[in-house]
Formats: sequence, C-alpha cells, structure tokens
Amino acid sequence: MTHPGTIHHCDCITGMNQLNAGSVDIIVTSPPYNIGKPYTTYDDTVPRNGYLSWMNEVAGAAKRVLSDDGSLYLNVGGSLKDPWIPMDVAMEFRKSGFILQNMIHWIKSIALPKEDMGRFYNAGISENGVAVGHYKPINSRRYHNDCHEFIFHFTKTGDVPIDRLANGVPYQDKSNVRRWVQKKQDIRDRGNTWFIPYETIREERPHPATFPVRLPVMCIRDHGIDRCRLVMDPFMGIGSTALAAVRLGIPFVGFEIDENYIKIAEERIAAEQLTAKN
Ligand SMILES: C[S@@+](CC[C@H](N)C(=O)[O-])C[C@H]1O[C@@H](n2cnc3c(N)ncnc32)[C@H](O)[C@@H]1O
Repeated sequence: MTHPGTIHHCDCITGMNQLNAGSVDIIVTSPPYNIGKPYTTYDDTVPRNGYLSWMNEVAGAAKRVLSDDGSLYLNVGGSLKDPWIPMDVAMEFRKSGFILQNMIHWIKSIALPKEDMGRFYNAGISENGVAVGHYKPINSRRYHNDCHEFIFHFTKTGDVPIDRLANGVPYQDKSNVRRWVQKKQDIRDRGNTWFIPYETIREERPHPATFPVRLPVMCIRDHGIDRCRLVMDPFMGIGSTALAAVRLGIPFVGFEIDENYIKIAEERIAAEQLTAKN
C-alpha cells in the first residue's frame, strides 16, 4: 500500500527548515497551549515569554514553507484562568507577517432553547430545546464552561480565495434560494462558527490534547482541495491532520517529538487506509 505521507520524529522547526520554501499549501495545526497538559515528552509549563518567542520562531518557519496563496489554520484555546493565550499566540504569527484572514470559532458544545428554534422547527424538539456536544461540568462562581476554541486562518496576503461552500449548509428558509441566490443552489456559507463535537473515545485517551479529525477535514476543504499539493502539521500528535489528509486524498507531512504518539498516528493512518479500501 502506498504511504500518503510521513510524520518525522523531530523538532518541528528543524523539520520545517528541511522543506523547500513554498512547498506546502495548507498548514493545519494546534501547538501546545502551555497550560500544563500531561504530554509524555513535552513540558507544557514553560515561562510565558519563552513560550511566546518559540511560537514566533514556529510562525517564521511556517511562513517560509507556506506557498504564497497557501492557508495556515492555527487552532489555539486558552484556559479559564488564562484566556489571553490564543490571542497572544496569534499576535506572534501576526508579528511574523501573517495576516488574519478569518477568525473561526470552534464550538464544542451548544445549547439551543426551543423558543429560539421555533421559527425553524415545528416538531420533534423537546420543551428544553437541545444541548449538544461535549460538556464537562466545572465548579466555579467566576467562570463559564469553556465551550469553544479559536481557529485563526492566517494567510500571507489576506486575499487568498477560499472554497466558501465546501463546508456549506442548506438554507433553512428555501425562499432565500429563489430570491437571493444567483446560481439557485440550496447551499450557503457555514459562517465562522463551526460546531465540531469531540469524537467519543471508549478506551483510555492515548493523547491529552487532540482535535477531532473533522476539524482538519473542514480546514482543508475551506482552503480548497484542488489547490492543495501538500498539507503539513508541525505538531502532529497522534495524527489527526494526517488522517484528514488521507481521507481527502492529499499528501501530508508532519513533525512530532514523541515517538509513541507517532506510532499511534501510524496505526490510525493504516486503519483509515484499510477503511477507504474496503
Ligand atoms: C496540541 S498537541 C497536537 C495534537 C494533534 N492536533 C492531534 O490531534 O493529535 C501538540 C503536540 O506537539 C508536540 N510537540 C511539542 N513540541 C514539539 C516540537 N518542538 N516539535 C514537534 N512536536 C512538538 C507534543 O508532543 C504534542 O503531541
């Protein structure tokens, strides 16, 4: 079976420096957030300044390998006590010359009261409305539950075309199709709030901070599959971006410092290829 890509066991800056300039069209990644996640190899509790200057170096290396009309989707979340982390990390990418073209909210859990849905749905909704997605209760007088993270869409020019309908949704009110839509297609842009629930994992979690495979799938589609020669994830973890690339038939490259995470990623990729073949 042909291997669609490689995850290199090395530091991502060293790895990115080996790639040709402009050779990557889409980067989808989630760096460590520096919030004390129990990674097996990486220490997620470094002083803030050092962490941010490292993020700045990562941004510089990523910018060199990204093509001029490429897209970088940077997923970052914070913690309830430190909600500035995503903005601080995004600022380091801005300082490296990236332009924030879109700011997408990854919604992990949402509650919709019935009265807000009534205009759109007549039947089948319980009196309590619906609440969907993963929700971990916390005990706090100060904070709301953290139900979202950011996906910063960075480009080099701020003017890179995206495939707005690739993750589109059908119109609720079909009269809009007749009245407003030029091509009369019953599909509209999803907007910048993406509800992506976590996948249910029954066994013990093999990694403390993964994103669902649907997240990189949506990012790759958002940029446009036909304008992508190579997808990269500098912080590959257990390979969610690689899986997304395999699912969409696009070659990938990635870096990870933990050998065991790479082993798990390779097992997941092999299983994905098997499913695709059957
Ligand atoms: C937030 S996790 C990424 C998880 C990934 N998105 C997934 O779904 O599996 C960040 C990863 O970066 C890795 N890492 C930390 N420092 C690194 C470095 N210098 N180079 C490459 N990988 C690194 C960590 O081991 C961790 O697996």
